[in-house]
Amino acid sequence: MDINESYRKLIDGNKKFALEKKFDDPEYFKKLSLGQTPEYLWIGCSDSRVPANEITSTQSGEMFVHRNIANLVIHTDFNALSVISYAIDVLKVKHIIVCGHYGCGGVRAAMTNTANGFVDNWLRHIKDVYNKYEFELDAITDFDKRADRLVELNVIEQVRNLAKTKVVQRAWSNRTLQVHGWVYGLNSGLVKDLNVMLDGQIDIDEIYHYKF
Ligand code: CO
Repeated sequence: MDINESYRKLIDGNKKFALEKKFDDPEYFKKLSLGQTPEYLWIGCSDSRVPANEITSTQSGEMFVHRNIANLVIHTDFNALSVISYAIDVLKVKHIIVCGHYGCGGVRAAMTNTANGFVDNWLRHIKDVYNKYEFELDAITDFDKRADRLVELNVIEQVRNLAKTKVVQRAWSNRTLQVHGWVYGLNSGLVKDLNVMLDGQIDIDEIYHYKF
């Protein structure tokens, strides 16, 4: 596609979107403009094939979203922490979903020794996950299968990273909040719930507990 055509596609697409929504419900945008009360915070990969609303059949207003390469929750990432704090303290979301996906380029890149540039600083966090589970991972001879398992382990670690944050633990001290780990299958369109749901301080090692 020609560069101008490629850009135009978005403007035209937006007009189509606005018209269709208004056709279905003339009050649609007026209602949305009044505010948002999403029950979910989605932490997913930036990969263009994993759109949060589309794969969960949710609509505008239903999901607060944060995405980065390989869906990481890093405890010094003020961007992610700001999103998480706002979602918990102001929006009062009931669920946080960390969603990885099989075939994740970030995870696969972290499994090699290739230098990819600045992104390597970010991918280092995935190498740390690999290192933690090296015994299990090195036993899987097939690269794709090993990568798929690392995708799952990475999600599990990010769920735990969420549980280690003060903002999540403070929420747990006075209300219910569930943190879930999912992996999305690009081949099937289906999500696999890793059944690693955390909903209390007891679920993580004591060294990470905050007293309130
Ligand atoms: Co990815």
